[in-house]
Amino acid sequence: MRVGMLTGGGDCPGLNAVMRAVVRKGQVHYGDEMVGIQDGWRGAVENQVVELSVESFRGTLPRGGTILGSSRTNPYKLDDGPERVKATLADNGIEALVAIGGEDTLGVAARLADEGVAVVGVPKTIDNDLSATELTFGFDTAVQVCVDAIDRLHTTAESHHRVMVVEVMGRNAGHIALWSAIAGGATMVLVPERPFDIDEVCRVIRHRHVRGRWASIVVVAEGALPIEGTMATTSAEVDAFGHARLGGIGAEVASAIEERTGYETRAIVLGHIQRGGTPTAFDRVLATRFGIAAIDAVHDGAFATMVALRAGDIVRVPLSAGTAEIKLIDPALYDVASVFFG
Ligand code: F6P
Repeated sequence: MRVGMLTGGGDCPGLNAVMRAVVRKGQVHYGDEMVGIQDGWRGAVENQVVELSVESFRGTLPRGGTILGSSRTNPYKLDDGPERVKATLADNGIEALVAIGGEDTLGVAARLADEGVAVVGVPKTIDNDLSATELTFGFDTAVQVCVDAIDRLHTTAESHHRVMVVEVMGRNAGHIALWSAIAGGATMVLVPERPFDIDEVCRVIRHRHVRGRWASIVVVAEGALPIEGTMATTSAEVDAFGHARLGGIGAEVASAIEERTGYETRAIVLGHIQRGGTPTAFDRVLATRFGIAAIDAVHDGAFATMVALRAGDIVRVPLSAGTAEIKLIDPALYDVASVFFG
C-alpha cells in the first residue's frame, strides 16, 4: 500500500516519534511505501511530497519538531483547496493518509473523510485540549519545561522579593498552566476556564507577602481573561482557522499587580520554548504507541477514525468525535491547586 503522512498545526515534541513508528511498522511489517507530505495541508495543496523510509527517521526519536515541516494552512479557505489535496493524493498514488495534528488539522481530515478520502488521524497538541483522548503527546514535555522554568524563577523571585508572572501556552484550556502551577508550587494560577478578578489575585499576593513570604509566582495561561470590565486587555490578530494569536496577558497581569500592590513584578513569557526540543520519555512512548495504532488502523481499513488514549489503552474513535469538543480542565484538579493559593 502507498501511505501518505503529514503533520499540521503548531509543532509538538513527539511528532517524529509518531512518524518513525508509522514508517517502521508500515514498511517492515506491512511492506508499505511511505510518502511524506511537507508542511501540513500546504504541501497537500501544493503537491510537495517526499519519499520516506526507515532510514529517513534515523536519529529523530529524541528530536523535537517535525522533519516534514508544518503549517496552519486550511485547504477549505483556499480556492479549490480540497480538490487540490485530492489531486496530490491521486498524483502520488497515495491510497491512505495519516494526518497528525490538533483540532484544526483533524477538522480538515474529518471533512476530507466525509468526501471519501481514506484518512486516519493522530491527535497532537501540547495544550492537551482534545476531548476524545485523555492525553496528547507533547503535553508532558511542555509541562516539564514550564516546571523547570518555575523552579528557577522561585530562587530569583525570593532573592529580590518580587512577583513573577509566568505566561504559558493554553489557548482555550489551562491544562499546561494548571499542571505547571501544581508541580511548580505557584502562588496562583489563571486559566481560560475561570475568568479572574485581578483584585482577588492582588489580595492573595498581599496576604502572602504580609506573612513574610516576599515572593510570588503567578502562572497565567495565554488564553486567561479577566472578568469582563475589571481590567483592560488588548485584542490579537486571527489566523486561517480563525484563532487569535495570543500572548501578552502575562505582561498585562504583571503591570496590574505592580500598580495595585506596589510590589515589584516581572512578566516572563515561556512561549515556544515549551514546544521546542526533545520529548520526554513519556511522550516518546505515547507517540510511538499512537503511530503503531495509526498504521494498524490503516491496514484494518478503519478510516475516518482517530487513535486515542483511554484508560491506558490505545483505541479508535470517530475522527469527528476527536475534534468535536475542547477538553477543559478538571475542576477537581483546580481545587487541588487552589489549596496552595497564597
Ligand atoms: O496549538 C498549540 C499552541 O501551542 C497554542 O497554545 C498557542 O496559542 C499556539 O499554538 C501558538 O501558535 P503559533 O506557533 O502559531 O504562534
